[in-house]
Amino acid sequence: MRSKVTVVGAGNVGATAVQRIHQLGYADTVLVDVVEDLPQGKALDMLESGPVIGSDAMVTGSNSYEETAGSDVVVITAGIARRPGMSRDDLLLTNMNITSAVTEQVVKYSPDCIILAVTNPLDAMCQNILESSGFPRNRVFGMAGVLDTARFRTFIAQELNVSVEDVQAYVLGGHGDDMVPLVRYTTVGGIPISEMMSEETVDALVQRTRQGGGEIVALLKAGSAYYAPSASITQMVEAILLDKKRILPGCAYLEGEFGINGLCVGVPVKVGAGGMEQVIEIKLTDDEQKALEASAASVQELVEVMKNAKEGAQ
Ligand code: APR
Repeated sequence: MRSKVTVVGAGNVGATAVQRIHQLGYADTVLVDVVEDLPQGKALDMLESGPVIGSDAMVTGSNSYEETAGSDVVVITAGIARRPGMSRDDLLLTNMNITSAVTEQVVKYSPDCIILAVTNPLDAMCQNILESSGFPRNRVFGMAGVLDTARFRTFIAQELNVSVEDVQAYVLGGHGDDMVPLVRYTTVGGIPISEMMSEETVDALVQRTRQGGGEIVALLKAGSAYYAPSASITQMVEAILLDKKRILPGCAYLEGEFGINGLCVGVPVKVGAGGMEQVIEIKLTDDEQKALEASAASVQELVEVMKNAKEGAQ
């Protein structure tokens, strides 16, 4: 029997993720959105690509959750993008309400699933989804680090004119400005990057990676990145479905690791059939530890705003 993957949010990121997962051929997918007919139309279009791409897997579109029942993995991309005049907190609380409502339905129909959080602001949404689900921490984690790392690896490979496959990198902390690239663990064909380029060049590439999402937004004018995000989702979903035990950067709920307790933060994790099977704790320098703590502090601020809003609503 094929695995079953649900993706909630049939926008650019969600639909492209379903397209990529469908192309793998070994998982049936369900695409869910609130917009009437949109997921059904996109799903049918993808299904009709099956004979050409050689995928017998099923793709279903729906505006409700019955079709998602018994999913192995659920990816949550549902949300709205920040609109002009909207504050950061407005966006936070709107997407909090959306992801809470989505999670309730997901848990009802797939009580044993593994949830991959994608909606931004990622770290805070991951925390909200984890709390709303009542799942153990291994079954709710977030995608951001794979994307940030992919951007960093792309820029390094371009700079050195080497294969992207030979560039290994680690990015910890929050998604975006708070990102903590672990330059010491960044290698090209196993060679530390410090042997391959100057510190100034590394710093420039780190800076470009931090602003990677914004660079795409500025070029697209409308909407944000989705090709690299959907590829990153697919890598994480595949690691779960094939029990690959991959070591990837992921957003995980920390219980004392790295000296952080009770917060979802980007760290290296082992991803397999159990979801986020292990937080890989590595030794950080004082500067790296400080940067990670600063990143955790900004997640904490958002978590406080969400907590106050939830208490106020009661
Ligand atoms: N249930 C299901 N779908 C919803 C809900 C909901 N309650 N609310 C909104 N959506 C859907 C929207 O209808 C839209 O189709 O979520 C989709 C979001 O798609 P886009 O606006 O195209 O956004 P996208 O670029 O796909 O990004 C989705 O991923 O990377 C993050 O920052 C990004 O938070 C954003 C998310």
